[in-house]
Amino acid sequence: MTEPVRPQHLVILGSTGSVGTSTLDVVARHPGRFKLVGLSSYQRMDELLAQCLRFRPQRVVVPDEDRAVPLRQRLAAEGLDTQVHSGAQQLCDLASAPGVDSVMAAIVGAAGLAPCLAAARAGKRLLLANKESLVVGAGLFMQAVAEGGATLLPIDSEHSAIFQCLPEDRSRWARHIDHIILTASGGPFRHRDPDTLHSVTPAQAVAHPNWVMGRKISVDSATMMNKALEVIEARWLFDLQPEQIRVVIHPQSIVHSMVVCRDASVLAQLGTPDMKVPIAYGLSFPERIESGAPPIDFLKLQGLSFEALDPRRFPGLQLAYDALAAPVGTTAVLNAANEEAVAAFLAGTIGFTSIHSINAHTLEAVLPQLGAGHGLDDLLELDLRARAAARQAMNAL
Ligand SMILES: NC(=O)c1ccc[n+]([C@@H]2O[C@H](COP(=O)([O-])OP(=O)(O)OC[C@H]3O[C@@H](n4cnc5c(N)ncnc54)[C@H](OP(=O)(O)O)[C@@H]3O)[C@@H](O)[C@H]2O)c1
Repeated sequence: MTEPVRPQHLVILGSTGSVGTSTLDVVARHPGRFKLVGLSSYQRMDELLAQCLRFRPQRVVVPDEDRAVPLRQRLAAEGLDTQVHSGAQQLCDLASAPGVDSVMAAIVGAAGLAPCLAAARAGKRLLLANKESLVVGAGLFMQAVAEGGATLLPIDSEHSAIFQCLPEDRSRWARHIDHIILTASGGPFRHRDPDTLHSVTPAQAVAHPNWVMGRKISVDSATMMNKALEVIEARWLFDLQPEQIRVVIHPQSIVHSMVVCRDASVLAQLGTPDMKVPIAYGLSFPERIESGAPPIDFLKLQGLSFEALDPRRFPGLQLAYDALAAPVGTTAVLNAANEEAVAAFLAGTIGFTSIHSINAHTLEAVLPQLGAGHGLDDLLELDLRARAAARQAMNAL
């Protein structure tokens, strides 16, 4: 008799977001293959309750007791014994809990760093959507992965594409890669006159032509800061020099990224623009499972095109290369400034083009004060300092 296969014990951090719900979609297609140990959310308690009713996780984590108390009552009223924990430390405890195999890191922003580090140190399979945590944590993050024996699987479609084009044996990557090409759709303002970008509204900025995503990453796609964060992410994930990472505009979002090999062969991964594809690959690696995304219909494709990126329209991309050339910690400053600036733009406090001015200004203002420490506390302190500088710059606008 064959032994029953143990299901993969899975935690989804940020389960109520765009990546989190797509992950649950994929999980739901494979009954018996995954066991949901835990979920987390921040504000959307109704959605979290609905996920608990459908997926029956053992525990959930919410930010504070103000949210935990009513959620416990509602779960009890539904006859569910899901445990409800609260606070940032509980996110780390869930991500590193014994018996958990895989952690989907789908929190948005630097708030995801501590639980990612906890999962990495505990040697989990870490499915990394939360690029900001790698941008902030950089070397510390990769050290935690190496020391904890974690398996780091990229979920960003571009990095998943690169990962899928590379040999499974990571020790061969450096000999294999000449450079990589990250593709960028160009977002909603690819054709807009740069001189009119100051008047763009949040609703226009989040209306991405190809992808349905959370609000923060949608604004980042419109400014090209998403690609800037991805350049930094790629530098660490694939251990590349910044000059080995190039970006081209590919408006159709079908070629998700490419590896240019030493022999000039180009390997690419293609697919419809649907996050369920890289998510399914991360969940099943090294196997492949059904994702639920439709395959490409090549006969209906109107063509694939590539074009250079206009730095006047997208000045933010250069900041990634500047930050990578600067002392360790500079990428954390850039990320913090960008999170603050995007939040202010979405709140209607600053204009679209001010996002770049705030980012550039904060890099200049905080760089000279960079300290020597690179531990988690040092990074979090630097993050706070950069946010304060960004807010100060906004007040001076
Ligand atoms: N969406 C995509 O297609 C896509 C593609 C590639 C990479 N990514 C990356 O994946 C991450 C998630 O993106 P998303 O689009 O799914 O974002 P999203 O829709 O805004 O979801 C974010 C999730 O994080 C939770 N969250 C927000 N702030 C938090 C905090 N301070 N502490 C703990 N949890 C918090 C949210 O909870 P509530 O909803 O309950 O408030 C939600 O579950 C980002 O790093 C993004 O760059 C996304």
